[in-house]
Amino acid sequence: MNLTELNSTATAMVAPGKGILAADESSGTIKKRFDAIGVESTEANRRDYREMLFRSKEAMSQYISGVILYDETIWQDAKDGMPLIKLIEESGAIPGIKVDEGTQALPMCPGELVTVGLDKLAERLKKYYERGARFAKWRAVIDIGSGIPSITAISVNAHALARYAALCQAAQIVPIVEPEVLMDGGHDIDRCFDVTQRVLNKTFQELRVQRVALEGMVLKPNMAVAGKKSPKKASVEEVAEKTVRMLKACVPAAVPGIAFLSGGQSDEEATAHLNAMHKLGPLPWGLTFSYGRALQAAPQKAWSGKAENVAAGQRAFSHRARMNGLAAKGEWAS
Ligand code: 13P
Repeated sequence: MNLTELNSTATAMVAPGKGILAADESSGTIKKRFDAIGVESTEANRRDYREMLFRSKEAMSQYISGVILYDETIWQDAKDGMPLIKLIEESGAIPGIKVDEGTQALPMCPGELVTVGLDKLAERLKKYYERGARFAKWRAVIDIGSGIPSITAISVNAHALARYAALCQAAQIVPIVEPEVLMDGGHDIDRCFDVTQRVLNKTFQELRVQRVALEGMVLKPNMAVAGKKSPKKASVEEVAEKTVRMLKACVPAAVPGIAFLSGGQSDEEATAHLNAMHKLGPLPWGLTFSYGRALQAAPQKAWSGKAENVAAGQRAFSHRARMNGLAAKGEWAS
């Protein structure tokens, strides 16, 4: 393992004013997104859509440090035959790959999930590295509800995240470690804060046990927010203050960067929260976005599957990327 190289990739992924485009929706998830805009989820439509994003010059060259791809996309060619991964490299962004294989029900723990995909992961990572991927992503999902999360769900997911991260580093790939505490429930921000702290602490304990080099990874956490069904919505300032406090308590300064998921926040909320956190600086790590929905909802709508809308889709994507790029420096104004 070459830690200097891993560290410089991780540092580039969270470069000031830049963040990550999470375009790694599984076939099931992209179908849901396409259904919402009335587009059939065919291989060609998925290719056209992602090609539109990766050819967005302004966004890709100025505000996007890296792109997380799904397995199908990393092997796909653009309409003119150019591999999509080459489009990303030529824009100056770093290609990455989602390597988890989704979730399964966790035995003995009703309603809870464990992320799978460790079998044969070493071989898959080798092929992805040869194709050009320099970072990877694995998402664990922790739900908040009555009596959950269990310590069992937190432990097995943290263990799997650390197994994945160690395998990535051995393959010279920077792991994005993503323990996502969902914002689906009716809980308030303080419960999210407590659960996320427990999850992060357990995750870093496992990373240490499994000898993962913290200097060669990126953390992708949720923010401390109230659940979507909570009657008590937290203000932007409260989200920023509690999230920064939580991360300072749990994330060692050796970690080069933290890149948030948007997790169902609206586009503007995700931007405003990140911006407000930078107002509380200086921070010990790079702090930026790794958004899926909060970067793509607008371009998806503008595109709506029509070739004549490609320029409008690219404008919508570049706008959100620019807003989040500003927020990643604390320079966004609503
Ligand atoms: P969202 O920003 O839509 O939560 O997606 C980010 C991601 O990669 C989830 O794994």
